[in-house]
Amino acid sequence: MAHEDATRTALTRLIDIRLSRRELLKAVLAGAAGTLSGHASSAPSAANRTTGSTLTFAEIPHGLDERHHLPPGYVAQVLVRSGDPLFHDAPRYVPGQADPSAQARQFGTDNDFLAYMPLPAHGNERQRGLLCANHERTTAQLVWRAMGSSRALAERSAAQCEHEMAAQGMSIVEIRQDGSSWRLVLDSAYNRRIDARSTTIAVSGPAAGHARLRTRADPTGQRIVGTLNNCAGGVTPWGTVLTCEENVHFYFTGDASSHPEAAALKRYGFGDRTFYVWGRHVERFDLQKEPNEPNRFGWVVEIDPYEPSSLPIKRTALGRFKHEGATTAISHDGRVAVYLGDDERFEYLYKFVSQRRFDAKNRAANRDLLDRGTLYVARFEAQRMHWVPLVHGTGPLTAANGFHSQADVVIEARRAADLLGATSMDRPEDVEPHPQTGHIYVVLTNNHRRDAGRINPANPRADNRWGQIIEIVPPRVNGVADHTALECGWEFFLLAGDPADARQSARYAGPVSRNGWLACPDNVAFDPKGRIWIATDGQEDVAGFADSLYAADTGGPGRGITRLFFNAPRGAEVCGPCFAPDGRTLFVAVQHPGGEKGSTFEKPSTRWPDFDAAVPPRSAVIAVTRTDGKEIGS
Ligand code: FEO
Ligand code: CA
Ligand code: CA
Ligand code: CA
Repeated sequence: MAHEDATRTALTRLIDIRLSRRELLKAVLAGAAGTLSGHASSAPSAANRTTGSTLTFAEIPHGLDERHHLPPGYVAQVLVRSGDPLFHDAPRYVPGQADPSAQARQFGTDNDFLAYMPLPAHGNERQRGLLCANHERTTAQLVWRAMGSSRALAERSAAQCEHEMAAQGMSIVEIRQDGSSWRLVLDSAYNRRIDARSTTIAVSGPAAGHARLRTRADPTGQRIVGTLNNCAGGVTPWGTVLTCEENVHFYFTGDASSHPEAAALKRYGFGDRTFYVWGRHVERFDLQKEPNEPNRFGWVVEIDPYEPSSLPIKRTALGRFKHEGATTAISHDGRVAVYLGDDERFEYLYKFVSQRRFDAKNRAANRDLLDRGTLYVARFEAQRMHWVPLVHGTGPLTAANGFHSQADVVIEARRAADLLGATSMDRPEDVEPHPQTGHIYVVLTNNHRRDAGRINPANPRADNRWGQIIEIVPPRVNGVADHTALECGWEFFLLAGDPADARQSARYAGPVSRNGWLACPDNVAFDPKGRIWIATDGQEDVAGFADSLYAADTGGPGRGITRLFFNAPRGAEVCGPCFAPDGRTLFVAVQHPGGEKGSTFEKPSTRWPDFDAAVPPRSAVIAVTRTDGKEIGS
C-alpha cells in the first residue's frame, strides 16, 4: 500500500477508536447513573468480589532485585534496547564506545514516553504500528567507562558529548506482531531518529522568529538544531506525537548570574546544576557564547511519524517550562485542549485550548491547530478550580512587567503564571484526560520541600514524599466534557503512601492491599476498558522497593484500589506505559536500570536486560502479553 494510503487508513482507525470510545462513554454514563460520583463503572469479576476490582491478575509483592517481575500468566519480551540498530546497515552496539554517527542510527538512551501509532496489518500479522519512544537522558556512569567521580564526568570527551547528543530525542520504529511476539522492522521507511545533535526543528507560534530566539547559527529564530530531555508526551487526534522538553537547564554550562537574562534564567534553574558538559565542546551550550540558546529549549515539539521526511515543530503557543507531557482531548465543540504539567516542586499545571476546531475529515486542516489558542494556568481552591488565561496585555502581563508581546509571555510562562496567582503544585508529572469520561487525572509525584506553611487544598501534605493524583471533573455539554471550561470541580483520586502508617496521611478510595499501595506516581495510561495504569518514579528512595506499575478501576466498587502489576529491576524508573489498540499488549519503558548512586559501568547493581558480564545495564522497551493471549488486566 502506498505511504499515503497506509497513513490515511491508520488515521481512520485512530479516529474510529476515538469515536467508538465516545459511544462507549454514552453507554457507561447511562448505566452508571446513581453510582459513586457518576464515574464509569464495570461489573466486578468473580475473582475479585472481595475488593470489587475488575482486575483479575494475581497481585505481586513489593520487592527489590536485579530483575523485573510480573504476575503469573504474563510474559515480557524485550523489544528494543539502547543501542539497538534501527536499520540493517546501522552499526551494532559496542558497550562503552563513543560513536555519535552510529548512535544516530540506533535506539537512543533512557527511554521514557511511548506512543503506539497504528498501521494497517497484512498477511499473518496481528498488529502493525509505529513505536515512538522518547529518549530523556543519558546516564553517563552506565554508558561510559570510568565515570565513578564527578571529575571524570566533568571531563567527558568531545566524542562522548556528541554521542550523548545523538542519544537523546526520539526514536520512531515500525513494529509488527507475528503470533504473540513483536519484532522491529529494520528496513521500514518510517524508521527515524530525532536527536539533539543534527535534527532540524522548525519553530511556530508566538515566539517564532522573536529576537530572544535568534542566534549566530540561526539569525531567523525559526530553525533550531535538536530537541533534548524528552520526557513524556502525547498523541494528537490527527495522528501526530508531541514530545516534551523537560530539564533543559541541565545541558548548559557557563555563568548564568552574569547573563543578560539572568533573572529569567534563574527562574528556570539554569546555572543551578548541570549533568552534561556539552558546552565544553559545543559552543551553543555555553551560556556566555550563545546567550539565546536556552530560550530555544523547554518547548513541546510536534512530530508526524507517518511522514518520515517532515520537519518536527516546536509549538511555542504551549509555553516554555519544564514540560512533562502534553495530552490532548477534543472538547464538546470540537476545539482541542492540551494538558501540560511543569515538573518541578511548587510549579504549575497548564492547559492550552485551540482557537479552531478539530477536523476529523481533513488531516491537513489540523496541521497548525496548536499555533493559535489560549494558554491557561490552574488555580485551585477547595473542590473547585479555575483556569486563568496567560494573554499578553491582560492583567499584569504588560510591558510594565517586562511582557512586551505574547512571545515574552510564552518564553517566560512561569513568571507570567506567578503574577496570575497560580497554585504551586507538588511536581506535576503526567496529566491525562480519561478517554471515556473526560475527567483529567493530574499526577503529582512528590514534594518533600513543602512545609506546613505552604500547604493548599490541592497539595495538603507537608514533607510530601509520596505524591497524589487529582481528578478534575470538567462540566459536560450534551454529555461530552467541556475542556474549554474556565471552572471545574475536582477531588483526590488518591493520596499516595502507605495507609498502614498514619503519619503519611495516605488515602485511597477503598482497602488497598499490603502490596497495592504506591509512592511517587509519574506516568499513567488508560487501557481500553478505561482503567488507569500508574507508573512510579522514586519508590526505591521513599519506600525501599522497586519502581512499579499499578492498576486500578476508575469507577465502580474497585475505583482507586491500586493493585501491583509489575516491578522494575533495581535502579530503574517505570515510564511510558502504553497499550496496543486491542488491549492485549502493554508496552513499558524501563528507564535507567541500575541507575542508582554508586552503580557504574564496571560495577552496576544489575545487568538488566542482557545479564551479560560484558554489557552494562541499558534502558529497554518491553512488550507485556498474556500467555493465553487475552486482554491485559482481565
Ligand atoms: Fe522526566 Fe518529570 O520526569
Ligand atoms: Ca523520566
Ligand atoms: Ca516523568
Ligand atoms: Ca519523574
